[in-house]
Amino acid sequence: MRTHKHFIHGQYQGGDHTFEIDNPATGERIGLAARGTKLEIDQAVDVARETFLKTAWADMDGRLRGELLRRVARVIRSHSEEIAALEVADAGKTIGDARVEIEIAAQTWDYYADLTQSAVGTVNAVPSPDQFDYTIRQPMGVIGIIIPWNFPFVLTALKLAPALAAGNTAVLKPAEETPVTASFLGQLLNEAGIPPGVVNIVLGTGLEAGAALAANEGVDKLIFTGSTEIGSLVMQAAAKNVTDVTLELGGKSANIICADADREQAVMSAAFGCLLHSGQCCCAGTRLLIDGKIYDSFMDQLRERFERVRVGDPTDPKSHLGPIINDKQLQQIQRYVDIGQREGATLVTGGGRPAGAALEKGFFFQPTLLGDARNEMRIAREEIFGPVLTCISFEDFDQAIAMANDSSYGLAAGVCTRDLVKAHYAAKRLQAGTVWINTFNGLALNSPFLGWKRSGIGVERGVEGLHDHMHLKHVRFDLSRKPLPVFGD
Ligand code: NAI
Ligand code: MG
Repeated sequence: MRTHKHFIHGQYQGGDHTFEIDNPATGERIGLAARGTKLEIDQAVDVARETFLKTAWADMDGRLRGELLRRVARVIRSHSEEIAALEVADAGKTIGDARVEIEIAAQTWDYYADLTQSAVGTVNAVPSPDQFDYTIRQPMGVIGIIIPWNFPFVLTALKLAPALAAGNTAVLKPAEETPVTASFLGQLLNEAGIPPGVVNIVLGTGLEAGAALAANEGVDKLIFTGSTEIGSLVMQAAAKNVTDVTLELGGKSANIICADADREQAVMSAAFGCLLHSGQCCCAGTRLLIDGKIYDSFMDQLRERFERVRVGDPTDPKSHLGPIINDKQLQQIQRYVDIGQREGATLVTGGGRPAGAALEKGFFFQPTLLGDARNEMRIAREEIFGPVLTCISFEDFDQAIAMANDSSYGLAAGVCTRDLVKAHYAAKRLQAGTVWINTFNGLALNSPFLGWKRSGIGVERGVEGLHDHMHLKHVRFDLSRKPLPVFGD
């Protein structure tokens, strides 16, 4: 059985201590992964620091660094089918989604390759003509990155490409559920010619390797994606060292369906918004707020749509949804469906594991609609992280916006309407980092992605995402050729 290893200073290492990796669609063991601890994390951070301070990387001409990043994109594309197969087996991605995500990963390296020369500063207007005053941006040093299991390979690109484009080095810890493609990335980075030590990858659990990375004093910035609970712990560890953090955390995003919405568009926005990757998506639209005037007919259409979604073998291109990542997450989803019904919601469709011997060994869950819900219910307030949509009826639009905002989270929100004024009115008032109008889950590399409230801190993607990995520096230059006129007699 193959053992996936750490990648430190351009070389694979470790494997004496391991943990097991399972295929969520079959329950079969597919390999072992090196189990890193504080020892390997500290070693990786030391290597990243040395590389940052003592090699040409941080000061490399942006064009050269850009060319190296572009080569990573090319290498990814030349191995795309191999990476896709690994991702399907390790993360339960459908083959269709895996192919799309690997292409997005390549595009991300290309995008930040172009931005290696885009870090901008300013010349600051100051009162005295004898002062020249400006701001520049510089790399921070070592970026510590902790990622979850829901988008494993694409997240390595979304985190590493901007960190490297800005001139930093990095230590990455993938989720223990999905270490395979992150470990494989090491080989691809070598093939692309990324110098050793620039990217270091340590596999391991959150408690052993993740916590050690968050606490390491040699890390200049921590980037975390995952649960709000662990994000808060990472921030507490960072606080001890006064280390900067960017956190991309949970969500309970609302999607408001107005009576005047285009029906088909609204049904697809609601269904895709919630069901992408079986709802294992931080920005999923998991609270549907439906105008009471159309509630019954809309729910009929949505049920029909949910029931046509094909859950099945992720290697089959016809499957729309694959499995849930593991039994723990599956049990959590089942628990919330039960809680919802006990709280008074109606199970409209789904609610459990799909029938059929073929799916028995995997962690599959049916697309599920919980109707007649209220915003106070736990199923409307807590992240379920599965293909479960909580549906709530509203009476007027301002009430819907107030309900959408009545959440501890603020990652995304949506509104479906044909009324332009209503759409912009909502876009302005919804408390969320992203607002989708007549669509859902659409992201772009050059648009920012960020969470309000307990959904996060900092910003990713776009030029803002590049600048988020850089220190600002203020420079004051005296042009007067005279000493400072202070401490006079
Ligand atoms: P998690 O937040 O525990 O794990 C995310 C990453 O943090 C993993 O790499 C993990 O190893 C690491 N980690 C765990 N404990 C750590 C610690 N003490 N210090 C440093 N790093 C640590 O998420 P988990 O347990 O996989 O899922 C639990 C819930 O989190 C899900 O049900 C879902 O609600 C939410 N979640 C949200 C995600 C998002 O994209 N915002 C992604 C995955 C999970
Ligand atoms: Mg956890």
